[in-house]
Amino acid sequence: MIHTAPSIEAIRAQFPSLASGFAFLENAGGSQVPGVVIDEISRFYREDYAQKGASYGASQRCGEIVEKCKLFMARIFGGESTGEVVVGQSATALFNMLAGAYRQNLKAGDEIVVSVSNHESHIGCWERLSEVGVVIRWWGVDAKTGLSSLDDLASLVNERTKLICFTQTCNLVGDIVDAKAVVKIAESVGAVTVLDSVAAASHQALSVEDWGVDFCCFSAYKVYGPHMGALWGKSERWAELNGPNHKQLPKKGAMNFELGCLSYEGMAGFLALGSYYGFLTGTEVGFGEVASREVITGAYGLMGKMEKELSFTMLGWLNSREDLRVLGVTQPGIDRHPTFSFVHDRLGSDKIEQRVNEHSIGIKYGHMYAWRVCEAVGIPVDTGVVRVSAVHYNTVEEIQRACGVLESVLNS
Ligand SMILES: Cc1ncc(COP(=O)(O)O)c(C=O)c1O
Repeated sequence: MIHTAPSIEAIRAQFPSLASGFAFLENAGGSQVPGVVIDEISRFYREDYAQKGASYGASQRCGEIVEKCKLFMARIFGGESTGEVVVGQSATALFNMLAGAYRQNLKAGDEIVVSVSNHESHIGCWERLSEVGVVIRWWGVDAKTGLSSLDDLASLVNERTKLICFTQTCNLVGDIVDAKAVVKIAESVGAVTVLDSVAAASHQALSVEDWGVDFCCFSAYKVYGPHMGALWGKSERWAELNGPNHKQLPKKGAMNFELGCLSYEGMAGFLALGSYYGFLTGTEVGFGEVASREVITGAYGLMGKMEKELSFTMLGWLNSREDLRVLGVTQPGIDRHPTFSFVHDRLGSDKIEQRVNEHSIGIKYGHMYAWRVCEAVGIPVDTGVVRVSAVHYNTVEEIQRACGVLESVLNS
């Protein structure tokens, strides 16, 4: 049977918070959550809320949910057969832990490449390795657009390069870095790759096994789930690292990076997200079932298609204004994610944000912790950019409404 994609109205009806009519256009900060996730968190608290590891029913059920959630996450990464997922409080916490482990394995004179387009969560923790003599090589961005170039990366690596810590999508620029091409460059010198897919994972299917990256991270709260982070790593890479977990656990391996009890309620909710992905693809994903990779890629395929129209509408307006400077790709039709950052030649980003948000619209101004990108492209870090960021559940009408309000604010 040929599946017809659900209408935008049916999709929006899955998200209780969207019913208010408020236009959520700050999705790069965090996405909204479908009802199935909300309901499952509440059900879990009522029926399965326990510590795992004991033989009584709730404890067993809780343990199963945690394992299934990790399997679902591994499928989202596209890394089920070669790696393991570590769940933590946030991407920031997980990157810090990973950098702490590499601190023990690296020596003075080793080099690591860190992309300027990273969120600070994937910079500061690596930059601090310079305290033990590790040399940081900065993969810069184009001073006009904020885009990263693979040629620039290729010129930075050599036989001393041990790690390349990069982002797939800058949370200000909305670009899409070719992770596979980065891995090729890394492999030419035997470097390990650590990929931040936090800003990409709201929009596109991740494919760590196809790309060949060693580590990859997303934040569940930007992927329609609760506040948590997930870090996938190749099993052989985890095995090389000492984690900070309890002494009684095996010294090396992924288990050493999952500290104490996790948010089991959050993991129950996240597992239920699979049935929303099933809804998008016309596939029934039942209670407690782990959505297949096919369902996940199908759901992302639909999201990507829907987002293209939003980008087209937004770029149409942005390109109509000569008084705006827009970061990233501005030609319609070229692949990018619908995260748009811009500055006005007269009005401050803070003023623009405030005046737009008075109209039942949620956008944000600032550097969003990609302050090094602001610095590199010559945008004042204190006021930063105005960011309008959409995901698949936004409508063309919402984008048009935001553009209409922006137009009157800029013309005033
Ligand atoms: C690209 C990117 N990486 C990492 C983070 C940090 O995520 P977390 O809040 O899970 O630490 C963000 C948050 O906005 C982000 O946009």
